[in-house]
Amino acid sequence: MANVAVVGAQWGDEGKGKIVDWLSSRADVVVRFQGGHNAGHTLVINGVTYKLSLLPSGVVRPNKLSIIGNGVVFDPWAFIREVTAIKSQGVDVSPATLQVAENVPLILPVHSALDKAREEARGAGKIGTTGRGIGPAYEDKVARRAIRLCDLGDEAVLKEKVDALLAHHNLLLRGLGAAEMKPADLLDPLREITPQVLPYASVVWKTLDELRRAGKRILFEGAQGSMLDIDHGTYPYVTSSNTVAGNAAAGSGMGPRAVGYVLGICKAYTTRVGSGPFPTELFDDIGELIGQRGKEFGVVTGRKRRCGWFDAVMVRQAIKTGGIDGIAMTKLDVLDGFDEIKVCVGYRLDGQELDYLPANAAAQARVEPIYETFEGWKDSTQGARSWAELPAQAVKYVRHVEELIQAPVALLSTSPERDDTILMNDPFQD
Ligand code: IMP
Repeated sequence: MANVAVVGAQWGDEGKGKIVDWLSSRADVVVRFQGGHNAGHTLVINGVTYKLSLLPSGVVRPNKLSIIGNGVVFDPWAFIREVTAIKSQGVDVSPATLQVAENVPLILPVHSALDKAREEARGAGKIGTTGRGIGPAYEDKVARRAIRLCDLGDEAVLKEKVDALLAHHNLLLRGLGAAEMKPADLLDPLREITPQVLPYASVVWKTLDELRRAGKRILFEGAQGSMLDIDHGTYPYVTSSNTVAGNAAAGSGMGPRAVGYVLGICKAYTTRVGSGPFPTELFDDIGELIGQRGKEFGVVTGRKRRCGWFDAVMVRQAIKTGGIDGIAMTKLDVLDGFDEIKVCVGYRLDGQELDYLPANAAAQARVEPIYETFEGWKDSTQGARSWAELPAQAVKYVRHVEELIQAPVALLSTSPERDDTILMNDPFQD
C-alpha cells in the first residue's frame, strides 16, 4: 500500500487542509515535514470550522496519530496555543495522539523579531513573509546554532546555546536598529513552556519505522506550495524550506522510498500572498470577483490574496520538479458562471516563447502569459459529488487542463465540505 504525500502545486493556499483531512480517513498517521506555523489550513467538518497552522490536519480525527517531523521549524508557544484551541473545540489531543520530533529546531521570539525588522528594512523590496520567524529559524538550523526541542530539558546546555545564539542575533538586531535581547528574554519563557511541550517530544523516526513495518498507512502533509520552494520556487520570493515531496522523507526521518504517491493540490485558478512574480495575475473586475467568490484572504495573516487565471505552465513545472503523480483540483465552483475562462499555456519573453518559468527573478517578473480561452459554464458545480453532476463544459475544462499539465486529475473538490469531493482514483490504492 503506497504512502501518500500531499503538496501544494502553486503558491500555497490550494486547499490542502481539506484534501489531507479527506485522505486521512484512509491513513493511520499524518506527518508534517516542513514549514511551521506560517501555514494556514482551514478544515470544515460537519459545519464546524477548525483553523490549523502548525498541527497536522489529521489531529481533528479520532484514532489517528499526528506527527511533527524534524523538517518543521517549531514554535513551542504557537504549538501550545493551537493545542489549547483545538482541545477547547472538543478534540482529544495528547502525547498519545500527537508527537513532535525531538530534533526539531525551535522558533524563538528573536526569530520573529528579526523576520519583521528585516522586512521593514527591505522596504518596497520586501518578501511579504508571514512574520513568524520561519526564515531566521531555518537559517539558524543550517548555521548549526539552533536550539532544538531535545535541548529544553538540559538547563546548562540551554543557557550556553542561548548565549551563543544571542551573540549572533544581537549584532543583526543592532544593525537593523531593532531592540536587542537579553538571555533572560529567551530563557524565562522557554523555562515556562518546557513542561508543557516536552511531553510531546518523541523519537519520531523510530515511531515511523515501526509503523511502516507494521503496514500502517502514512500521509505526509506538505505546507505552502511548489512555487514557494526554496530551490524550485520564485526565488527570493519564497519560503525557507523545500516544499516539494522530496523533502517528506528527510523532513520526517524516512528513506526516499517512504512516499509511494505524490498528490499535488491546485486551485482551478491561481492565488498568491506576499510579493513576487505572478504572470497570470488579474488587476481587473474578474480578479476581484474570483477573490470574493473564493474568499481569498489568508488564514494566518488575514491578507488579501492576489488572484489570476490558471497557469498550466507553472503547474506542469511543479509536477516535474516535485514528482507529482496526480492532481487534486479545488474550487472549480469559483469559476461557475463566467462567459469565458482563460488558461496560461506558455510565456512570452523578449519576443520568444517559453514553455517553462525561467529561474532569473527579473525574467520571471517580465514574462507575459499566452492564453487559451475556453467557453465557460452556467450551471453550478458546487457540491457535485460525481463526474456526471458536472456541466459538460466544466468536464472539458478539467480534461484539457490534464493534457496541458501532463498529469491526471485524481480528485476534484467542489466545496469546503469534506464529502463534496469527486474521486477519479484513490491515491492510497494507486
Ligand atoms: P515565510 O514563510 O513567512 O518566510 O514567507 C515567505 C513567503 O511565503 C511569503 O510570500 C508568504 O506569503 C508565503 N507563505 C508562507 N506560508 C504560506 C502559506 O501557508 N500559504 C501561502 N503563502 C505562504
